Amino acid sequence: MKVIVTKNYEEMSRIAADMVAEEMKKKEEFVLGLATGDTPVGTYNGLIEKCKKGEIDFSKVHSVNLDEYYPITPDNDQSYRYFMNEKLFNHVNIDKANTFVPDGTAKDPDAFCKEYEAKIDELGGIDVQILGIGRNGHIGFNEPEAELYAYTHLTGLTQNTIEANARFFASEDEVPKQALTMGIKSVFKARRILILASGANKAEAIQKMLKDRISTDCPASLLCLHPDVTVICDEAAYSLV
Ligand code: GLP
Repeated sequence: MKVIVTKNYEEMSRIAADMVAEEMKKKEEFVLGLATGDTPVGTYNGLIEKCKKGEIDFSKVHSVNLDEYYPITPDNDQSYRYFMNEKLFNHVNIDKANTFVPDGTAKDPDAFCKEYEAKIDELGGIDVQILGIGRNGHIGFNEPEAELYAYTHLTGLTQNTIEANARFFASEDEVPKQALTMGIKSVFKARRILILASGANKAEAIQKMLKDRISTDCPASLLCLHPDVTVICDEAAYSLV
């Protein structure tokens, strides 16, 4: 894995936005893999700015999101669909019909997950996947477990993640306890992966991820098996390495 350590969140976001933009310029029908959480917001702002300046064009871009809470409706302001509309899609010239986020209202989640995986394949795979990392080393909602799923699936959230994500909800009780998420193999279908981390609360996860040991106890540690991963993290997130 290539590692870039930045001074702070702003520099991390600027470098990530530049990298994504450079990749987008190489190909009109680009497939962009997206993540939610606070971490990629600065990168999305950078992409919005570049789009407004006419440096990049989303008109033929398709996007695929990593995960979504389950159950949740898209108009719930804590849903990842709502987040993506607010933080990126509403501000660039992307056709929303070309944006895919797992459906938190799916009646048959297992059937939906199969369709979602097929959608990724139909799009020809993801060109660049943006990832964040959970405090416990999760990617998407692939939580530390003895066994990890390969493909898109319905999963339970760990208490650690429920607590970490409670800050967005009125109370911890309101955090959905399940989610739909791409699996490890779905993420690995991306040709290039950028994983972003900022702040001291990610330092343990980054240390584990870069330790040169692979363990399902830190799902992000599996990323070293992928041929093209760039870690962009700030000094605080890198402080325990
Ligand atoms: C959530 C998401 C992850 C994200 C993580 C970190 O649990 N499912 O995809 O990477 O949180 O979020 P943040 O960037 O807010 O720290």
